[in-house]
Amino acid sequence: MFDPRRIDYLLSEAARSMEQNGEFSQEQELLVGVDLGTAYVVLVVLDPSGKPVACEMEASQVLRDGLVVDYMGAVETVKRLKGRIEDRLGVTLHRAAIAVPPGTAPADQKTHRYIVEACDMDVVCILEEPVAANAVLQIESGVIVDIGGGTTGLSVIRDGKVVFTADEATGGTHISLVLMGGRKVSFEQAEEMKKNSALQQEVLRAVLPVLQKMASIVQANIQGFEVDCVYLVGGTCCLPGIEEVFARELGIPTYKPQNPLLVTPLGIALGCAQQM
Ligand SMILES: Nc1ncnc2c1ncn2[C@@H]1O[C@H](COP(=O)(O)OP(=O)(O)OP(=O)(O)O)[C@@H](O)[C@H]1O
Ligand SMILES: [Mg+2]
Repeated sequence: MFDPRRIDYLLSEAARSMEQNGEFSQEQELLVGVDLGTAYVVLVVLDPSGKPVACEMEASQVLRDGLVVDYMGAVETVKRLKGRIEDRLGVTLHRAAIAVPPGTAPADQKTHRYIVEACDMDVVCILEEPVAANAVLQIESGVIVDIGGGTTGLSVIRDGKVVFTADEATGGTHISLVLMGGRKVSFEQAEEMKKNSALQQEVLRAVLPVLQKMASIVQANIQGFEVDCVYLVGGTCCLPGIEEVFARELGIPTYKPQNPLLVTPLGIALGCAQQM
């Protein structure tokens, strides 16, 4: 059942687990969610009770448009993140879950699997990304909007199941490009500006047309569906105020969890644990 307090608790535990170390005797029971994204690679580890106990992430360019473009780079990145967690927890990680965008061809799913297997983990489960996100949100109906680095993805949920998905170009990278042009800064500086709370209002004003474009992608794709609530996930939704833009543009109540960036990575491990 959708419960904002449970969601924020889980996400804050996941965020906290980026900092904490611990010793685990039952290493066989730990489960790693591996999220290979266009902007970030994120690993989240769950203990047998489903509690997040470690999280590591790195900015990355090993994927483009949801497809792996740098296989060796992806393997090295996952190995590095896995190694850091193993050092912190004093364990060896053996079992992983992964997720792919809806409609990913079997050959591309295999590439994801091989990357994780090359890091000495068994892939015990492959989920579709919106299914992973909904393992955290647990909504029965509505639309989950995932705005990552490259695209705005949306999934209409009915009776707890994904009934329609769409994914269109326009993501966090476009926001950074607009800031680069408007503020005459480098891409890296634009990425930092987005995360600087002192610049919140300025950034929101400058990128409003991009956020409106994202909302219009959702609007165009949910025609014909009864949607009573919009749920925002993905790193770009960390932007303060994006939820108000969506609510205003779509005329639909819009919910955003604390730390939307971690919803899918956490859900990959959680969704897999729920299936086992
Ligand atoms: N605090 C923040 N405020 C605004 N944007 C942020 C913040 N933190 C991260 N981002 C942006 O979120 C985006 C990455 O989000 P996410 O990790 O969900 O993407 P991804 O899964 O790697 O990409 P995709 O889903 O497109 O494959 C980047 O564009 C990054 O700049
Ligand atoms: Mg993503």
